Amino acid sequence: MSALLLSGRDAAAKILGELKPKITKIDPKLVVVQVGDDPGSASYIKQKIKSCGEVGMRSEHRHLKADTTLSELLKTVAELNSDTDVTGFIVQLPLPDHLQDHVPEVIRAIDPKKDVDGFGAYNLGKVFLSKEFEHLPPATPAGIIMLLEHYKISVAGKHAVIVGRSNIVGKPLSVMLLNRDATVTVCHSKTKDLPAITKQADILIAAVGKPKMITADMVKKGAVVIDVGTSRVDGKLTGDVDFDAVSTIASAITPVPGGVGPMTVCSLIRNCVRAKERQTEKS
Ligand SMILES: NC(=O)c1ccc[n+]([C@@H]2O[C@H](COP(=O)([O-])OP(=O)(O)OC[C@H]3O[C@@H](n4cnc5c(N)ncnc54)[C@H](OP(=O)(O)O)[C@@H]3O)[C@@H](O)[C@H]2O)c1
Repeated sequence: MSALLLSGRDAAAKILGELKPKITKIDPKLVVVQVGDDPGSASYIKQKIKSCGEVGMRSEHRHLKADTTLSELLKTVAELNSDTDVTGFIVQLPLPDHLQDHVPEVIRAIDPKKDVDGFGAYNLGKVFLSKEFEHLPPATPAGIIMLLEHYKISVAGKHAVIVGRSNIVGKPLSVMLLNRDATVTVCHSKTKDLPAITKQADILIAAVGKPKMITADMVKKGAVVIDVGTSRVDGKLTGDVDFDAVSTIASAITPVPGGVGPMTVCSLIRNCVRAKERQTEKS
C-alpha cells in the first residue's frame, strides 16, 4: 500500500478531545431513539453511546418495541422536542417495515433545533445557503469534510466525484463540497459509463452500499478516495472500494471500518454541542 491512510479514529479522537472541555462546561444530552431490533442499528447505536461516554457527554438509548405504531413514535418525538433537558435526538434508521414509508413524516416532526442528525428540511436548507449557514449539517457529510480538513486535504478547485445521491450522504455532501469551491459531479444508478467519470476524480467519494464496486481501474493515480459504504460480507464490515487494489493507486484512502464511521459519530457529538450552545444563547 502506498496511499496515506485517512484514519477517522485518529481524527475523531483529536476533534473530540478538543471538544471535551466545552462538553464538561455546557453539559449537552443526546437521545438515540431505536424502534425494533435491526442488527446494523444496534451496533451503530452502541458506538454512538460509547463515544458519548468517552467524551463525557450524557446520552440515553430509548429503545421502542418493533411493533411501535406511527402515533406512538410521533408521541415520543413530541416528548423529546419539549423536554428541556434533551439537547438533541436522532431516530435511528432504518425503521421497521411498517414505519419505513413514514420516515419523512418522522423527520419532519423533529424540532430543527434538536435535529442533530441534520436530516430535516430546515437544516438541509441552511446547508444550501453557504458554508457559514452549516449549523447542524448532516452528520456523515460533515464528518467527511472534517476528515479532509484534519488531513489538510484542500478541496478548492478539485474535481470531486460522488457516487451515490442519497439525501443523507451524496446530495448534501455535493453541496458542502461546492460551498468549499470544489467542482462536483454526482453519479447514481442511472449514470452512464461510471468508470469514465470516476477516473476524472481528484477526490472520489463512494456512498452506494455495494461491496468493492470501486475497482482500481476506476480510480485516477494520486486520487483521494473516501469510502462511505458499509456492507456486511461474511460477517465483516466491507466498504464500496476495493481497498487493497485501490490503495496502491490512490494518494490517500479511508479504511472500512475506522474511516468515515467514527467521523459520523464525531460530527453528531459536535452537532449536539452546537445545538446546546444555540439553545443556551437563545434562552
Ligand atoms: N459510515 C457511515 O457513517 C455511513 C453513514 C451513512 C451511510 N453509510 C453507508 O453508505 C452507503 C450508502 O448509504 P446511503 O444511505 O447513502 O444509501 P442509499 O440511500 O441506498 O443510496 C445509494 C445510492 O447509490 C446509488 N447507486 C446504487 N447502485 C449504483 C451503481 N451501480 N452505480 C452508481 N450508483 C449506484 C443509488 O442511485 P439511485 O439514486 O439512482 O438509486 C443511490 O443514490 C451504505 O452502505 C450505508 O450503509 C455509512
